[in-house]
Amino acid sequence: MPVKKLQTQQTGVLVIDAQHKELQIRIEKLLAAKDRTTLALCVMALYQCFREHIAYEERLMRKLKYPAMKAHIDQHQGLISRLNAVVRRVSTEPIEKAELDSFIADLTQNHVGTYDSQFGAFAKLQESSPN
Ligand SMILES: [Fe+2]
Ligand SMILES: [Fe+2]
Repeated sequence: MPVKKLQTQQTGVLVIDAQHKELQIRIEKLLAAKDRTTLALCVMALYQCFREHIAYEERLMRKLKYPAMKAHIDQHQGLISRLNAVVRRVSTEPIEKAELDSFIADLTQNHVGTYDSQFGAFAKLQESSPN
């Protein structure tokens, strides 16, 4: 399944877009991993990067009192749980490509394409509001 590039889905929030770009780089490294050791390192690197990223988004949502924050944070929790499950298993058992593909599609298309885009639009609006 082709990965929709996160760089093509700009939220308009510079830090978030830069973090999405970093996530994209880590996803591409993960997809290119040829052995289990590299795969394990790449999954852990993606996990770390994703945790830091969602922590940033959630801080910003709280700061801006984003009305749809709960649904967005629930999405983050679901994604991080799935990635955490992969991290726990990656060094001891084979990881199904379909599982990774499904996670990446949900992150890049569903989450970033929908939830992050909506939050980005809200954050930009707050930024440009006069008060
Ligand atoms: Fe994001
Ligand atoms: Fe998000």
